[in-house]
Amino acid sequence: MADLAPLDETITLDRLDRDPFPIYRRLRAEAPVIRVKAAGRTFLTKAADTKFVKDNPGLFSSDDPNTPMKRAFRAHTLMRKDGEAHQRERMAMAPAFSPKVITQDWIPAFEKIAEEYVSRLPRGEVVDLFPALAGPYAARTLAVLLGIEDASDEEMQRWSQHLIDGAGNFGWRDEPFERTDRANDEMDALFDRLQDVHRAKPNNSALSVMVNADDPIPQSQIYSNIKIAIGGGINEPRDALNTILFGLLTNPDQLDEVRGNDDWDKAFEEGVRWVAPISVSSRLVTEDTEIRGCAVPKGDTVMTIQASANRDEDLYERGEEFIVYRDKNPHQSFGNGPHFCQGTHVARRSVGRVMLPLLFDRFPNMSLPDPDAVIWRGFGFRGPVNLPVLLQ
Ligand code: HEM
Repeated sequence: MADLAPLDETITLDRLDRDPFPIYRRLRAEAPVIRVKAAGRTFLTKAADTKFVKDNPGLFSSDDPNTPMKRAFRAHTLMRKDGEAHQRERMAMAPAFSPKVITQDWIPAFEKIAEEYVSRLPRGEVVDLFPALAGPYAARTLAVLLGIEDASDEEMQRWSQHLIDGAGNFGWRDEPFERTDRANDEMDALFDRLQDVHRAKPNNSALSVMVNADDPIPQSQIYSNIKIAIGGGINEPRDALNTILFGLLTNPDQLDEVRGNDDWDKAFEEGVRWVAPISVSSRLVTEDTEIRGCAVPKGDTVMTIQASANRDEDLYERGEEFIVYRDKNPHQSFGNGPHFCQGTHVARRSVGRVMLPLLFDRFPNMSLPDPDAVIWRGFGFRGPVNLPVLLQ
């Protein structure tokens, strides 16, 4: 039997939160499989390994009972299920994400929202686009897609943040769960009311297709999967938009080229590669196995670090840099395998097709006066926490 992976006792969660990329670069070179004490997990930082884990759900299960997610959501969501149970719940929501529905229903709705939210931005001033645009736009487009338009942008963002904080509450402190409990009560009350509305007047939103299905999944699962979409559908498009804007505004030559070629889709893919909005995922090891010659025992939790996989020297030249026109970009920001992000195409379109071209059309001389003023944070989820842009 091979030896266990080396144990690291120097990496801290705080350092990972501030700037994980130098750490990942070192780990890829020196110890691509490593047990990190501060996280209580085995980190995998090479692209081939992160993909291997996600593509092999039999050996690496999503059903990890040791996470606080179940407590935070007051249910077991589809993200933490395997096999048929996972498929059944994923398929229940799938009609809302079909290419036809995206084109017919969501793109026109998103264009209207984008138009409205961009037109209320002031001109000739420095504005923090995180609270002024990226957060609310992500919240409103998601509310429409999920069929919960009655929720305000503030509620959507607050619920999402509370669910994320609760799901990440590995210290099992009371306070974050008190906040998720309150958010759950508010969401449950809203969903109770909206179920009847959707029964009377069905549409293609996720809540509507699930409650009106011929053979519906249990109500507890309908609710918890709408909640997982709230918890996992605001931060990422918001952070992706802010990251791409940062990348383009700090690389004016690339911005000119993207604008000239209408290559906003490419800019989107490079932004999410460069800084993966969901940087890590966990999987529970179901049988003793080996990765890169290190023993990985049953019961261990491995962390696939897609943020690192996306800069792996085996796949990318100058992976640390934002380069829209790179030869190839097989990034893993939307995951792999059966849990591949269900919102991939919606996010690509809402950010890449709708918002980016509109924003640069309305503010053609937009600039970032002080790139150093932009603060980046996050280990599990990552993006700029502010984006002070001069709008003109
Ligand atoms: C740039 C935007 C986005 C990124 C980078 C992203 C990333 C991801 C990743 C990495 C996963 C897989 C997690 C794992 O393997 O454990 C995931 C799952 C998921 N995402 Fe996204 N996401 C984005 C936007 C969205 C949006 C807008 C929605 C809309 C509802 C959404 C809904 C979901 C759902 C439902 C899952 C769970 C799928 C399953 O377990 O079968 N995502 N996302």
